[in-house]
Amino acid sequence: MIRYRAFTKAYGGRRAVDGLTLEVPAGSVVALLGPNGSGKTTSIKAAAGLVRPDSGEVVLGAEHLNALDARARRACSFLPQRVSFPETLTGREVVDFYRRIRHVPGDATDRVLKFASLNGAGERAVGTYSGGMVQRLGLAVATLGTTDVLLLDEPTAALDPEGLGAFYRLVDARRQAGGTVFFSSHQLGDIERLADRVAVIVAGRLVAEFTGRQLAARLADRGVMRVRVDAPTAGLLERVRALCPEAAWRGDELIVPGPASMRPGVLDLVREAGGDIRGLTAEEGRLDAFYRELIGAPS
Ligand SMILES: Nc1ncnc2c1ncn2[C@@H]1O[C@H](COP(=O)(O)OP(=O)(O)OP(=O)(O)O)[C@@H](O)[C@H]1O
Ligand SMILES: [Mg+2]
Repeated sequence: MIRYRAFTKAYGGRRAVDGLTLEVPAGSVVALLGPNGSGKTTSIKAAAGLVRPDSGEVVLGAEHLNALDARARRACSFLPQRVSFPETLTGREVVDFYRRIRHVPGDATDRVLKFASLNGAGERAVGTYSGGMVQRLGLAVATLGTTDVLLLDEPTAALDPEGLGAFYRLVDARRQAGGTVFFSSHQLGDIERLADRVAVIVAGRLVAEFTGRQLAARLADRGVMRVRVDAPTAGLLERVRALCPEAAWRGDELIVPGPASMRPGVLDLVREAGGDIRGLTAEEGRLDAFYRELIGAPS
C-alpha cells in the first residue's frame, strides 16, 4: 500500500503539491492523472523517498514504513519519468548491476530482458538504443524484484503497441499477486485498461477520484459523434436537435456532441428519415477540457 497524508512540497515558495491525501491499497492499481506541471512526478518521487515533504507524510509497503526510511526502499521499485543509464554499458550489464544491488537471483536478468523484448539488444551498448528501447530497459529494471510497491512515472510514454501489451500483462500479474501499482500517465488507454482508480491532480491539489470506468464514461459523454450521411433528408436536423440541441451539419457530416447514451437514438432518426449512413466516428472528450471543468475554470 501507499498512503499520502497531507503531503505538501514547495519549490522556491511555489507549491508543487499542496496537501495531497490519497491511499493506494495493496492489490490495486491507481493512476495519477493531471496536466503538465500538476505535481505527479513530485508525488511519485515522494513515495520513492526522493522528495522530502515540507509537511505531511508518505508511508508505504506492508510494514507502513515512512518513505524517507531507508528500509522503505526495499519495499518499492521506481521508474523515473526520464530514465537514463550509462551509455557504454550493455542492456544486460545494466540489468545485472541493479539485480545485484537488489539481491535478486541471476535468472531474473534473462526473464526481464525477454519481457522487455530486448533479447537481442541486451548485448548492445545502451548508447545505441532508441527512446522506446531505453524505456523498455527502465521497465525491465523496475520489475526485477518482487517488491510490494511499483512506482512508475509515465511508463508507457515511448512504448509501441507490443511493448504496451507486455506492460499491461505485467501490471495485471502484479495486481493478482497482491502488489500495489501507482503510475502516472497522459494516455487514456492506459487508464481505461489498467486503473482500478484514478486520482486527478491539478495545480498540486487532488481535485477528483474516479474508477477507471467512471472516467472513461465521463469523457465519452463529452465526446462527439460524426455521422456521414448520403442523401440527407429535409427536416432530419430538426428532429435530431430535439435529442441534441447542438447537432449541426458540416458538409454531409452530421456532428452530434454530447452523451454517448443518446447516439443510438440519433442513428435511429437518421435511418427513419431514409438517410444512408456511410461512415461513423466517435471521439472521446478531451482531457484538457475535463481538467478545466474539474477546477471550475472557463472553457
Ligand atoms: N526540482 C525542482 N525545482 C523547482 N521546481 C520544481 C522541481 N521539480 C518540480 N518543480 C515544479 O513543481 C511543479 C510540479 O512538477 P512535476 O514534475 O511534479 O509535474 P508533473 O505533474 O509530473 O508534470 P509532467 O506531466 O510535465 O511530467 C512544476 O511547477 C515544476 O516546475
Ligand atoms: Mg512528471
